[in-house]
Amino acid sequence: MELFGARVLVVGATGTLGGLAAYALEERGAHVALAGRNPVRLAALARELRDCPARSFEAYDLDQCSALAPWAERSLDGLDGVLVAVGAAGFGAVQDVSNAAAGHLLTVNALCPMAVLRGAAPVVADKGFLLAVTGSAADPPGEGTADYTASKAALSRWLEALAEELVPRSVAVLDIRSPRLDTGFTERPVTGSPPPLPPGADALEAVRSLVDRIASA
Ligand SMILES: NC(=O)c1ccc[n+]([C@@H]2O[C@H](COP(=O)([O-])OP(=O)(O)OC[C@H]3O[C@@H](n4cnc5c(N)ncnc54)[C@H](OP(=O)(O)O)[C@@H]3O)[C@@H](O)[C@H]2O)c1
Repeated sequence: MELFGARVLVVGATGTLGGLAAYALEERGAHVALAGRNPVRLAALARELRDCPARSFEAYDLDQCSALAPWAERSLDGLDGVLVAVGAAGFGAVQDVSNAAAGHLLTVNALCPMAVLRGAAPVVADKGFLLAVTGSAADPPGEGTADYTASKAALSRWLEALAEELVPRSVAVLDIRSPRLDTGFTERPVTGSPPPLPPGADALEAVRSLVDRIASA
């Protein structure tokens, strides 16, 4: 897809990957709208990106998540793509993870991105794209990651089914199965603590290849 002039909603824009993606898309000539949890950091980012439209949301409010793409479509006068980089890490053997923490991971990592893209599917332009960052499906689940892995696997399979539904409109559904990156994501778990892990790969490099992937979709 031609990125110059493309109208793209970035959800999770105040996160590391979301923020880098917003800058990278803007550098390639896209017009971005931003959605993030923290209104103060979101407003600061929007100012840096030419006062682009911005709206705050909370992952637990799934109707609010589904309303983001229709809002972006109105704000940008059309919508060519949506990129979702919302997520939370969590660790622990299954007997040590509370049901509340497991529910949190499923809500933030699966139900929220699904709700965003559910709202986006009817309003994104034909030949546009819908993208979410999941994780490396090739890797076996790491120690203490059953609930995190389950949440990302749920999203991944849902994206596969969505891709089939959108074939007639040539909307590309992109599942970004990123390896571990140097964003500090695993150091901010909502439950447990991470096992010793090797350094993550370069996030900026990963975002550049993600944007290239959108451009070639
Ligand atoms: N970094 C990696 O190694 C890696 C590898 C594979 C996949 N991923 C996936 O990539 C995505 C982004 O990761 P990242 O490294 O950029 O981490 P990050 O900087 O922690 O970004 C996470 C984003 O999710 C948002 N978020 C978390 N809980 C939320 C909630 N309840 N409501 C609304 N927003 C919420 C955060 O909002 P705030 O800014 O307000 O905190 C932030 O924007 C995640 O889905 C992650 O699973 C990351």
